[in-house]
Amino acid sequence: MNILILGGAGYVGSHLVNLLLNQKHSVTVYDLFMYGEDIFTPHPNLKEIKGDIRDLDKLNKTLPGHDAVIHLACISNDPSFELNPELGKSINLDPFEPFVKLCIEHKIKRFIYASSSSVYGIKDTPNVTEEMSLEPLTDYSKFKAECEKILLSYSSDSFVCTVLRPATVCGYAPRQRLDVVVNILTNLAYHKGEIKVMGGAQLRPNIHIDDMARAYIHVLNASAEKIRGEIFNVGYDNHSVINLATIVKTVVGKKRDVNIEQIKTDDHRSYHVSSEKIAKILDFTPSHTIEDAVQGLLDAFERGKLPDSLEDKKYFNIQTMKALNLE
Ligand SMILES: NC(=O)c1ccc[n+]([C@@H]2O[C@H](COP(=O)([O-])OP(=O)(O)OC[C@H]3O[C@@H](n4cnc5c(N)ncnc54)[C@H](O)[C@@H]3O)[C@@H](O)[C@H]2O)c1
Repeated sequence: MNILILGGAGYVGSHLVNLLLNQKHSVTVYDLFMYGEDIFTPHPNLKEIKGDIRDLDKLNKTLPGHDAVIHLACISNDPSFELNPELGKSINLDPFEPFVKLCIEHKIKRFIYASSSSVYGIKDTPNVTEEMSLEPLTDYSKFKAECEKILLSYSSDSFVCTVLRPATVCGYAPRQRLDVVVNILTNLAYHKGEIKVMGGAQLRPNIHIDDMARAYIHVLNASAEKIRGEIFNVGYDNHSVINLATIVKTVVGKKRDVNIEQIKTDDHRSYHVSSEKIAKILDFTPSHTIEDAVQGLLDAFERGKLPDSLEDKKYFNIQTMKALNLE
């Protein structure tokens, strides 16, 4: 397939693109390359286009010849979004529907949208499933929920649309994020020997970056009847934050002593997402543990693949956004 990936130079995209190229697909990455321009090794089946998803003319020229679109591009966490809510809306919501319409004009056959499990808000239910009501707590999550609705309203036999609601991603990728929970803890444990955990009992669903990327490919390869107009949660274990810290301490502990400090918090938000639907319908199950993700990061630190990991702003979305001062 010829696949266009908006936001393909981000954390998830950088790994997904390499898996797709390995599977002989042709990939176009359309991205602002906010976190660096040297993400990919040149490849005959890879085209990189530096562009803004708000630039519909450029997207109109980019779309011809593609079979499928994977939409990952956005201001991708709450703090970065809140830095400039108007900018966030202009990227995360406003261009979405016009772009979906363009895709239909260009006869794109499949469209996969990266939503987020944060659309559920806080729920007491032990297993949050896809049909439960959405109670997004922030504009970032609210606009994810709105884009889901927009996309699915256009799904048809000829334009097969699917939404994924990923858990928090962890592990090593060519474009590294170190501002997501497991990665934050591993970075601090390895470089400082000290991690602080606020509370600890709250549950956090996570997924290994390789499983996340495989989930997109699984959907891309699934038969249309199974994915048309469907929403899938994608997560692995719902670990408590203290459990995550203990896993990090155990894995990093092979290299250095790690001390966990637990700090009291009033923030008891707990999320527990069920990923049974994607297992049942698409036969997709994650194959990597949180330990694997921590080990992958540890190996990357040891090999010098993540230099200056406590300071370089490219690893932390909010710091990059502040420095870019994007309009
Ligand atoms: N990483 C996670 O834990 C996680 C969890 C749930 C959902 N998601 C969703 O998955 C997707 C990918 O996440 P990620 O961690 O790879 O994020 P990321 O921030 O690493 O990547 C986003 C990419 O989008 C690009 N981008 C941003 N604004 C753009 C614009 N206006 N035009 C063109 N490109 C633009 C950035 O340059 C970046 O390369 C996002 O939609 C995110 O909301 C991620």
